[in-house]
Amino acid sequence: MIADSFGRVHDYLRISLTDNCNFRCFYCMPEEDYDFTPASRLMQPDEILTLAKIFVEQGVKKIRLTGGEPLVRKDAAEIIAELGKLPVELVITTNGTRIAEMLPTLIAAGIKSINISLDTLQPEKFFMITRRDLFHQVRSNIELLLQNKITVKINMVVMKGLNDNEIKDFIEWTKHNPVQIRFIEFMPFSGNKWTSNKLFSLDEILATVEEDFTVLPVKAAPHDTAKSFMIPGHEGSFAIISTMTAPFCSTCNRMRLTADGKLKNCLFSDGETDLLTALRNKEEILPLIKASIWSKKKELGGQLGKHFETLDADSIVNRSMITIGG
Ligand code: 5AD
Ligand code: SF4
Repeated sequence: MIADSFGRVHDYLRISLTDNCNFRCFYCMPEEDYDFTPASRLMQPDEILTLAKIFVEQGVKKIRLTGGEPLVRKDAAEIIAELGKLPVELVITTNGTRIAEMLPTLIAAGIKSINISLDTLQPEKFFMITRRDLFHQVRSNIELLLQNKITVKINMVVMKGLNDNEIKDFIEWTKHNPVQIRFIEFMPFSGNKWTSNKLFSLDEILATVEEDFTVLPVKAAPHDTAKSFMIPGHEGSFAIISTMTAPFCSTCNRMRLTADGKLKNCLFSDGETDLLTALRNKEEILPLIKASIWSKKKELGGQLGKHFETLDADSIVNRSMITIGG
């Protein structure tokens, strides 16, 4: 069992497969020219599997693959197939561009739920955010997943003045489609131009939806990071991830392994533990994992206070989102 000093048991591991991505979302990538990590410094498939097995032996029940974009990695299929053999719930967060070609691999690995990042339903705005003209490809891949009875959750990062005016359009989508929309409060990461006035909060999101719809709360599962809601008569549902205005750290069970094999005990931790180098040096891994998680801070990596209005994003020591994986 892996636990921290606050008694939180950690049984959910998020593995970033690569910091590479075929999109260029401004809020995720650092401003300056970004060099993707060379392949030799990434965990190799056998190394990912070795590390994942150590976590599973310690009680990890769920593994989420993230990126960058996990499915752009050339050996993604091989890695997914191997991880699919472990006794865990395997899920993935993707930008949805490579679903069609990867679907047989995903199904064979037993993946039943996929989170797709999609911040707008407008093709032109999609291009503006991602710098890629692939809106229709992503939309048709979402349909493909639904046809194959795979659970689809849509991650929509709400940014004031950019896409907060689409919240109701996303809700409309849930009327006749079994998708869950997850509205995510915009979070600060290295180089992502976060300012508090771009934050569209939990309260604002909820108030916006309630202008046009009847909203009923849904009881949360033990480690939910999202507050879930339903709208009578809608096939789908929605949820709000309120990391900034109402964090959910007290029930956190997550650990993050970056693509270069560093363990982060929190999305906002300033430190990390190099498991990959230790593995390559044939050192013992488990004590490193236990020590890292034991040193986890109570809330938000000890770096973000509750008062986001006065938060100076530049004072936060962290990686950019593309190198963490969400
Ligand atoms: N704030 C909130 N969510 C973010 N994501 C990426 N960057 C941010 C940010 N700054 C989301 C992506 C993806 C998930 C892994 O994290 O949209 O869906
Ligand atoms: Fe790529 Fe996702 Fe980051 Fe956009 S948010 S650049 S799709 S990893």
